[in-house]
Amino acid sequence: MTANAALATPRWRDGLESDYAPLVETLEQLIPCMEVPLHLPWIDAINTLKKQRGAVIMAHSYQSPEIFHGVADITGDSLALAQAATDCDSDLIVLCGVHFMAESAKILAPDKTVLIPDLEAGCSLAASITAADVRALRARHPGVPVVSYVNTSAEVKAASDACCTSANAVQVVEAIAAQSGSRKVIFLPDRYLGSWVATQTDVELVLWTGTCEVHETFTAQQVRHTREQFDTKVVAHPECSPEVLAEADFVGSTSAMGRWLEKEKPTRVAMITECSMADNLKNRFPQVQFIKPCNLCPHMKRITLPNIHACLRDLRYEVHVSPEVSVRARAALDRMLAVGRRETV
Ligand code: 13P
Ligand code: SF4
Repeated sequence: MTANAALATPRWRDGLESDYAPLVETLEQLIPCMEVPLHLPWIDAINTLKKQRGAVIMAHSYQSPEIFHGVADITGDSLALAQAATDCDSDLIVLCGVHFMAESAKILAPDKTVLIPDLEAGCSLAASITAADVRALRARHPGVPVVSYVNTSAEVKAASDACCTSANAVQVVEAIAAQSGSRKVIFLPDRYLGSWVATQTDVELVLWTGTCEVHETFTAQQVRHTREQFDTKVVAHPECSPEVLAEADFVGSTSAMGRWLEKEKPTRVAMITECSMADNLKNRFPQVQFIKPCNLCPHMKRITLPNIHACLRDLRYEVHVSPEVSVRARAALDRMLAVGRRETV
């Protein structure tokens, strides 16, 4: 394909299906097979543009299978994507995830151009708290350090002592408590993740009121019903309510869920998290039968093949973080990366 052909609206061409035979086979198992030929011209054009631009596409595990398997170079949870941004060779990163993930990539790789295909891809947790709220919390709890989930704006990160993801929240809380000599830590913004972390540590946590609009919709009754109806194991993300987590066989981050499946090899599993997570794991665990919830993250789903194509074609939308915010947010992210990933599964 020529450069101009990649810039135009992609059309079907002869040989597309055979050029992408392994991908077609994968996608036909994950999405309705009638949709696969609709995606192929976009996937082909994006892969061509990506090469021309020397770009790297990073996709979160909640992205749809045609993005996750079709165009992404690096996939993973929010911690893996943050680590990849620091290690990445390319000067151009397209972040197929939500805005706070693209901001984290920009803070960790300030000399690179970071693009997000849709600037409106937000997060209810990130929207639940401002830097002024963090300063008010500090005033109310003098000397107590602040750990913020990466699902926050750059300004909130900059007002925090350290960041964490669900993959290392317990370890970050304990490291910051030990370093500061405080047995109390302000943990924000997710009150459900915070209350789960509180069950895993002796450090006392001061919580905020944020919730994930996707995970908070699951109920304990639904989980009990699913277990009885399908005779299935249940794994749940710690952004779910404590009542839901109490019903689960395993609670863990998106990456820990994959490792738990590797270890336990269940016949059937219900994934109490965003719907695409099960699709993207299905390929790795063909022997496991996945019971999928239909809860989609409306923000993650703003990212589509056509807007990834437009993003690469027009080099839009660039993510910016002011230097003074970036320096302080970087210190909080670096403390998180120093702890790394120390999940027990
Ligand atoms: P991870 O940190 O597990 O990638 O999750 C991010 C997220 O937004 C979960 O809802
Ligand atoms: Fe935010 Fe929830 Fe969507 Fe994750 S699933 S990006 S926490 S709204």
